[in-house]
Amino acid sequence: MIKVTTPATTANLGPGFDSIGMALSVTNTLCAEESDSLSIEVRMPQVPPIPTDEDNLIYKTIKGFYDELGFSFPGVHMIQEDNIPLTRGLGSSAACVVSGLLAANALSGAGLSKEDLLQMAARLEGHPDNAAPAMLGGIVVGAMRGQRLYCSRLDAPGLDRLNFALLIPDFPLPTEKARNVLPSSYSREDAVFNASRAALLVAALAQGEHDLLECAFEDRFHQPYRSALIPNMAEIFSECKRAGALATFLSGAGPTLISVTKDLRFCPSLPSGWKLQFVAPSAEGAVCENITL
Ligand code: HSE
Repeated sequence: MIKVTTPATTANLGPGFDSIGMALSVTNTLCAEESDSLSIEVRMPQVPPIPTDEDNLIYKTIKGFYDELGFSFPGVHMIQEDNIPLTRGLGSSAACVVSGLLAANALSGAGLSKEDLLQMAARLEGHPDNAAPAMLGGIVVGAMRGQRLYCSRLDAPGLDRLNFALLIPDFPLPTEKARNVLPSSYSREDAVFNASRAALLVAALAQGEHDLLECAFEDRFHQPYRSALIPNMAEIFSECKRAGALATFLSGAGPTLISVTKDLRFCPSLPSGWKLQFVAPSAEGAVCENITL
C-alpha cells in the first residue's frame, strides 16, 4: 500500500493572483492500493460529505492518470484522511489532484518525475498557485505559458519569524462562484498596482524585509470583487490591522482570510461563525511512501 501526505495551500498570495502560492502545515493523507473494485473509506468526515463513489476527486484523478498513460485500470481501495477544510480557499481540491497523481504514479509503476507530475497537476487545475506549492512545498511563483508551467520555489529567509493566522468562516465559497465575479479586464492603473506589489512581495520575502509586507500584500485583482461574497470581509480586515496584523489577505478564492503577524498573541475580535487557527508555512510538499498496514 502507498501513503501520500499532501499539504494545504494558500493561493493568490496577496497580489499574486493565479501565480503565487504557499504550502501550509495542515495535511491530508491518502492510503491507496490497487484492487479489483472501487472502495473509499473517509476517516475524517467533512461537510459537505466527501463522495465515496466515482465522483470522488482523488479517484477521478487516479483513473484519469491511468487512462492518459494508456494503462488498464483495475480499481482502487483508498483510505482518505482530510484535515484541509473543503471549499474554504485552502487548496483542498489541489491536494486531491496532487495526491491522486502521486498515488497513481506509484501504483501504476509509471515512474514519472515530480516535474512531469507537477505539469499534469497545473494543467488539471488550470492555474498553478495551489498545485505547485502542494507538490513542491514552500512558496512557489508560477506562470502558465499555454499548457506549460514555469515556476520557481522562493527561498524566503526569516519566514519562521512570521505567523500565519487562518480566519475561517463557517460557510463555503465554491471557487467557480468566486471566479465568476471577477472582471474580464483591468485598468492600466490596477495592472500597475498589482504588478508592482507582486514584484515587491517576492523581493521582500526573498530579502526577509518584512516591514514591506503591509504594502506588498495589497491587491486589486480579486479581493475587491470577492468581498461582496464574504460578509464582513472589510470589517475583519480593519479589525485585524487594529489587532496588529502586518497584512491580511484572502486565501485563494476565499472565504478564508489569512493575517500575517509577528506576534502569536494576535487575537482579533471576529463575527460569530469565524474561527482563528495559527498555521506555519510548510517547506515540505507532497510525499509518497510505501507502507504496510
Ligand atoms: N487562483 C485561484 C483563484 C485560486 O483565485 O480563483 C483558487 O483555485
